[in-house]
Amino acid sequence: MDDAEIGKAFEKAKGFRNNAYSPYSNFLVGAAVKLEGHTEIFLGCNIENATYGASICAEQVAITKAISQVPGGKLESLVLVTDTNPVAGPCGICLQIMNEFSSDNFMVHLANLSGIQKSIAFKNLLPLGFNRSNMSTTPEKEI
Ligand code: THU
Repeated sequence: MDDAEIGKAFEKAKGFRNNAYSPYSNFLVGAAVKLEGHTEIFLGCNIENATYGASICAEQVAITKAISQVPGGKLESLVLVTDTNPVAGPCGICLQIMNEFSSDNFMVHLANLSGIQKSIAFKNLLPLGFNRSNMSTTPEKEI
């Protein structure tokens, strides 16, 4: 995405943040996802639960919307919007979900209500993430 497209995705994520269902934390989060080769922007917000642990992050909502619409889709960029300074990064579970669908050049843009404050390559956010390639059945050495 070029800067103008990232700016538009930011505005969409910022608006969608108001859809958050977060009566327990009162912390509203918005996310926008773009897939490689697709123009559509998929939006998410956090959806909490009285059991707390069943709460879903904004990134998870946006990514599951995207991947369910586009099977085999790869993440090109994600904009995350919180009302914090400094900006918040994704939680560990979200990083792992991103890892499953990441493209090689996946970029994560961290924003607060004033705009994007930090852009970082996903591979620098989670440099040694576990993925399917780690499940090779070939043992490293014979025992
Ligand atoms: N949350 C997100 O949606 N994304 C993040 O990256 C961090 C945390 C949500 C989960 C919960 O609803 C609230 O923010 C407080 O943790």
